[in-house]
Amino acid sequence: MNVLINADEIQRRVVQIAGEIEADGALDGFLPIAIREGALPFARDLLKALGRPEDLETVTISSYVGEREARQDPVLLGDVPPSVAGRSVLVIEDILDTGRTLTLLREELLRAGAGTITNCVLLDKRRDRISEVDAKYVGFEIEDVFVVGYGLDYENEFRDLPYIAIMD
Ligand code: IMP
Ligand code: MG
Repeated sequence: MNVLINADEIQRRVVQIAGEIEADGALDGFLPIAIREGALPFARDLLKALGRPEDLETVTISSYVGEREARQDPVLLGDVPPSVAGRSVLVIEDILDTGRTLTLLREELLRAGAGTITNCVLLDKRRDRISEVDAKYVGFEIEDVFVVGYGLDYENEFRDLPYIAIMD
């Protein structure tokens, strides 16, 4: 396992992103929503840095089963929180890859009556998107490699690593 981004670098960047969000007022009146399971460590640390640790809604979106390459279209498990109606939303996600997950969530949030939707992702894989997505806040741009740790998993393993590593 090759460490790509160590725990200190992650924590420093999270604090910087919190600073950007604060400077933009992007959380004033916004409802933060994290995508389970992968985005939870990032979302918790980010909201802690923003001084709003108690303030998190979540949705569960599953995009793949088992094999690294055996990706399916993402599916929303359950509903988006009803509290999104009439609210602006800050979506917090671990990694932007093909763009399908954030596109699906955006559609579902709009359907549920959300206002402005702003995306915040820890990692952005530089690759051709299947679905064009705009992430206003990006922690790190990375190459098109499969990574684990800090919430990201391979077959439900490695989520608890405090750093991000490339799987070989
Ligand atoms: P997208 O829908 O292709 O943009 O993919 C986003 C989702 O795919 C993320 O929420 C992750 O669950 C998963 N994913 C994409 N790339 C990786 C990776 O390198 N490691 C672990 N999970 C990933
Ligand atoms: Mg995910």
